[in-house]
Amino acid sequence: MIKASKYLMMAAVLTLAACGSSETTETTTTTPEESSVGVQPSGEAKLTISGGDDMKFDNNYFEVKKGQKVTLTLVHTGTSPKATMGHNWVLLKPGTDLTDFGNKAVNAQANDYIPESEAASIIAHTKLIGGGESTSITFDAPAEPGEYPFLCSFPGHFAIMQGIFMVTE
Ligand code: CO
Repeated sequence: MIKASKYLMMAAVLTLAACGSSETTETTTTTPEESSVGVQPSGEAKLTISGGDDMKFDNNYFEVKKGQKVTLTLVHTGTSPKATMGHNWVLLKPGTDLTDFGNKAVNAQANDYIPESEAASIIAHTKLIGGGESTSITFDAPAEPGEYPFLCSFPGHFAIMQGIFMVTE
């Protein structure tokens, strides 16, 4: 009798333990995904990118969550005027032909090299700035996850001044 009841109690404890452990496993697998490195779990993403007289961005990769509010600040760390070494930051839809876009931008000097004919490909852009200036824009990250290219559309710059704006789930 004593032995039998001991077995019953042990069986009950094992069952409870089994239920408890499976719940614990589910919790621990979801938590790390929500706090992955490089992704801000909620709220606004505050991004900064710099470009200087060397015609390079200091950052070629950003990662945000879909629909996340983004404030991006572009800093021109050089001293050259915008007429000769202007920088902007233009975010484009996935699949945009960057060479084609860059060539159209060359002819859009009057609009700070933002080609109005390509407006459908542009998600967001800053104004064009020169040495010592900075500018910020705030926009909502695209709702569709994917790799969104960005570039500086000043003539001749996009080949080097470009990168990926990654939108995750
Ligand atoms: Co530039």
